Amino acid sequence: MSSRIPGFYNLSIDERLKIIKEWAGLSNEEVALLRNFGNLDSRIANSMIENVIGAISYPFAVAVNFRINGKDYIVPMVTEEPSVVAAASNAARFMREGNGICANADKQYMIAQIHIVKSLTPRYSVMEILKHKDTLIDMANATNNTLIKLGGGVKDIDVRVIETRRGPVIVVHLIVDVLDAMGANTVNTMAEAVAPFLEQITGGEARLKIVSNYATYRLARAWVRIPVQDIGRDIAEKIVDASAIAEADIYRAVTHNKGIMNGIIAVALAVAQDHRAIEAGVHAYAARDGRYRPLSYWDLEGEYLVGTLELPLQIGTIGGAVKTHPIAQIALKILKVTTARELAEVMAAVGLAQNFAALKALVTTGIQAGHMKLHARNLAVMAGAKGELIHVVAEMMIKEGKISYDYAKLILNELQKSKD
Ligand code: MEV
Repeated sequence: MSSRIPGFYNLSIDERLKIIKEWAGLSNEEVALLRNFGNLDSRIANSMIENVIGAISYPFAVAVNFRINGKDYIVPMVTEEPSVVAAASNAARFMREGNGICANADKQYMIAQIHIVKSLTPRYSVMEILKHKDTLIDMANATNNTLIKLGGGVKDIDVRVIETRRGPVIVVHLIVDVLDAMGANTVNTMAEAVAPFLEQITGGEARLKIVSNYATYRLARAWVRIPVQDIGRDIAEKIVDASAIAEADIYRAVTHNKGIMNGIIAVALAVAQDHRAIEAGVHAYAARDGRYRPLSYWDLEGEYLVGTLELPLQIGTIGGAVKTHPIAQIALKILKVTTARELAEVMAAVGLAQNFAALKALVTTGIQAGHMKLHARNLAVMAGAKGELIHVVAEMMIKEGKISYDYAKLILNELQKSKD
């Protein structure tokens, strides 16, 4: 069978499934499972992306205990990884005393880039572009009346020349307040709208017209002070050691930041954000001075363990999948956030909590203890345990240090035998 299937995109979901069934030798049950779209209507799924043949469900959970800027939050999280939600809730409990977690986010400015090649006089062209700044701003703003009415739109234009191996390139940045949108669509439209005029005044060719996912004007921060007496000086010292190690060792910094992203991406998925954009921007920011660094820092200040985190977050509460996905809408309701800025603050706070939980676990019991607990429960369920027995079987496996499907089955059989 060939993978060249002309017009595949034009077929109905059932027609596509028929082809894929044959291609992969899927059983009727497997096809039925794919066809079960769960809480995402198949028509919505089919209009969100191309060539749809099903939907995949991930666990949707909530982290509790969060207190951010004096307001209580219950935080929806979607992840396939055990322990992430428990760890976030647990850390949030430590962090809710006193001021709780503090967070703040910049205005929601995104950058649209236009790269102009083949200008014969690039430096002179920069001046010409700046001379026409107001015209360019008006042109870009004319593409989105609603945004302008609400107070958003292009706030400024930056221009510079870079040297590339294909010659000099003029880089124009439209700096756009996108308000509560993620903003990629908004700014892409603006970039495309001003490109012909830029070509006219520079005599060059606008090669790329697209958002920059390095959202450096859209930073979010979270910080917290945890009384040392709440966790013990020994643990506090070790958490600061872990922070220092991440600062000095890139191999550790990447894992340190991965732990932060465990929380941030789980929230991003729950509210149907472009998590690839977030990841791309965040890791570039971690390397902003030429060296990859941790996004958070932990220090001892007097009787407090102080944690701080800063990262760019390009997220929206309106438009895109957050609007079309019904679960994302419910997630927003649970979050009770009213603006993209507030959502960014919550996400930064979750990142800091996740990081604290990971470091605390790493410098005490190690990370596997928590993972193994959930793993043991999973195995107990797979072995057929129900209700109270899930806990009993899992605990026995952990106690004996033998965590496997076969052992779960054995324990379950013994327990059932002794009950009969
Ligand atoms: C695992 O998903 C995340 C951690 O590795 C983060 C860290 O090491 O800080 C536990």
